[in-house]
Amino acid sequence: MGSFNKQVAIITGAASGLGLVISHKLLNEGACIGLLDINEKALNEQFVNPEKYEELIGLDLTDQSQVEAAVARIIGRFGKIDILINCAGITGETNIKSHDVSAENLQKVFEINFMASFYTSKAVLPHMLAKNYGRILHIASIAGKEGNAGMLAYSASKAAVIGMTKVQGKEYADTGITINALAPAVIQTPLVDAMPEMQVKYMTEKIPMKRTGTLEEAANIAAFIVSPENSFTTGFTFDLSGGRATY
Ligand SMILES: NC(=O)c1ccc[n+]([C@@H]2O[C@H](COP(=O)([O-])OP(=O)(O)OC[C@H]3O[C@@H](n4cnc5c(N)ncnc54)[C@H](O)[C@@H]3O)[C@@H](O)[C@H]2O)c1
Repeated sequence: MGSFNKQVAIITGAASGLGLVISHKLLNEGACIGLLDINEKALNEQFVNPEKYEELIGLDLTDQSQVEAAVARIIGRFGKIDILINCAGITGETNIKSHDVSAENLQKVFEINFMASFYTSKAVLPHMLAKNYGRILHIASIAGKEGNAGMLAYSASKAAVIGMTKVQGKEYADTGITINALAPAVIQTPLVDAMPEMQVKYMTEKIPMKRTGTLEEAANIAAFIVSPENSFTTGFTFDLSGGRATY
């Protein structure tokens, strides 16, 4: 028995980093979860006991028809969707000035960071409306609020996610559905490990607490945001930046 007992969640990017720890926290607290990731092999390695509470789905979230099929599969298996957490994301090329950014790379980043979160929220909202209850959390980034030099595609795509959160929060405010975002600074995950050292140094030095955030800190705040207790906050971007954000 836990605080998410009998709740059904969909978590994207569940095979790694933030999505992985948030998934384990919600599973430990009683949720049934559709775990979505393009890296099916890693999903199978990370979730070794999937029988009762887990539905592992390997898919490309940038393909809307695959997202719709995944949501239908989870409804078929668990009967409802209470929670959606969009963690899947990529940085694209970084440590690069705007005049050197390729349109292809920028589009690819938008496809996964913005479009995929649009596809998943569009697919789950009718099911949440039918029950008059839902919690959606889009993982954005401090880069979307402040703009990180060297990260045009990433920063702009996350700003778009924050914009979508504000719109969706207002649109469904008179239902039982809340829609919020989370803007972390640096949390050490494979996404950060893959970035140029200079870019990570630039981001970490901007954090007044002079450290990176922990996965546990990320999982704890995410769990609160998608809990029934978080009932009077919607369209809002929560902070997880060690003091970097001032608004
Ligand atoms: N780690 C940080 O410091 C940090 C800071 C701010 C925001 N974020 C955001 O948090 C989220 C999670 O980041 P992370 O650090 O855990 O990254 P990560 O690289 O550890 O995990 C991302 C997951 O997304 C999956 N994915 C990527 N493209 C996909 C696609 N097309 N279809 C399905 N799955 C796909 C990957 O396979 C991977 O498992 C991202 O949106 C990221 O932008 C992270």
